[in-house]
Amino acid sequence: MNNYKRVQEINKKLGLDAVLVSNGCNMRYISGFTGETGYLFISDRHHMVITDFRYTYQAEMEAEGYEIVTIGSGGYEEAINEILKNDNVKRLGFEAKDMLYSKYRELKDKLNVDELVPVNDEITRLRRIKTSREIEYIRQAESIGDKVFAEILDFIRPGMTELEIAARIEYLLKVYGAQRTSFPAIVASGVNSSMPHAVPTEKKIEYGDFLTMDFGCVYNGYCSDMTRTIVIGKASDRQKEIYNLVLKAQLAALEAIKPGLKGKEIDKVARDIIYNAGYEGCFGHGLGHSVGLFIHEEPRLSQNEEDIIEAGMVETVEPGIYIRGFGGVRIEDLVVVTGDGYENLTHSDKTLIEL
Ligand code: GLY
Ligand code: MN
Ligand code: MN
Repeated sequence: MNNYKRVQEINKKLGLDAVLVSNGCNMRYISGFTGETGYLFISDRHHMVITDFRYTYQAEMEAEGYEIVTIGSGGYEEAINEILKNDNVKRLGFEAKDMLYSKYRELKDKLNVDELVPVNDEITRLRRIKTSREIEYIRQAESIGDKVFAEILDFIRPGMTELEIAARIEYLLKVYGAQRTSFPAIVASGVNSSMPHAVPTEKKIEYGDFLTMDFGCVYNGYCSDMTRTIVIGKASDRQKEIYNLVLKAQLAALEAIKPGLKGKEIDKVARDIIYNAGYEGCFGHGLGHSVGLFIHEEPRLSQNEEDIIEAGMVETVEPGIYIRGFGGVRIEDLVVVTGDGYENLTHSDKTLIEL
């Protein structure tokens, strides 16, 4: 892929002779290489994948136009030193937000360069605005989620455990074409649903429970993410009130989405509705996040997000209300920001389902 040219621009801007890209999603985005270990080395003269024997053939197949370097018994440092010498590199960038401190120390000790220069999120930022092809993969991933939601409703019965339902969701995602889940499915019932990121347990689903299901999958490398909350049996008045308030906040936030607004301005639309109804303190996470090769990307729709939302970004919109000892509701859709608004990639019903 040609994205290495965009990295060369970053090198120029930061005064780097070359950069080592270590973040797996960035490696994939720039070169197409999907292997789990290695680096991209990008200078003005070279764009290389440096990896080990396990991934050499894969790298040759995936990273078209790249030089592929397989490390020898001297490991990465020896191979990189050879490249640095031939390319006369003095200032070498590395991805500071990706590298373990211990790895950094090792590189600092062993690499023959004048300076190892931390690169913050300049490379990751390249991934913010999605191409139409990336959006298609995300659309496909989210449509797998929609199918699974429709099917899981027929599967759920009181007496089943959260773990059983989570396992079924993850199984169905793969049956419908997902490579893997984008994160372990969250299935939280009754009081457990008051924990936004509850881990599924052996708790059995009971009549009267809220049941929150938050799940996503990966299709062609790209993630999806959706949440629906339903009620097992008849919803109480309090459940209806909370559910409809979260839905109102979500719909209002969706309608507010358009390019040119700051992430925090969109967050505020939902937050004001929830807080003004007396639920301040019950919505303690951000409204949403970007989604792409990674499940949680920037920019976010959150109280502190100063960055501007632009066309081609893919964002979740996921307000919630969580009440300790009672339960919680979250409703999450995935949208693409368009030239004048948004397109919703999530099509599952959002009126309160009483199962
Ligand atoms: N469970 C991940 C998220 O919705 O952000
Ligand atoms: Mn989610
Ligand atoms: Mn999410």
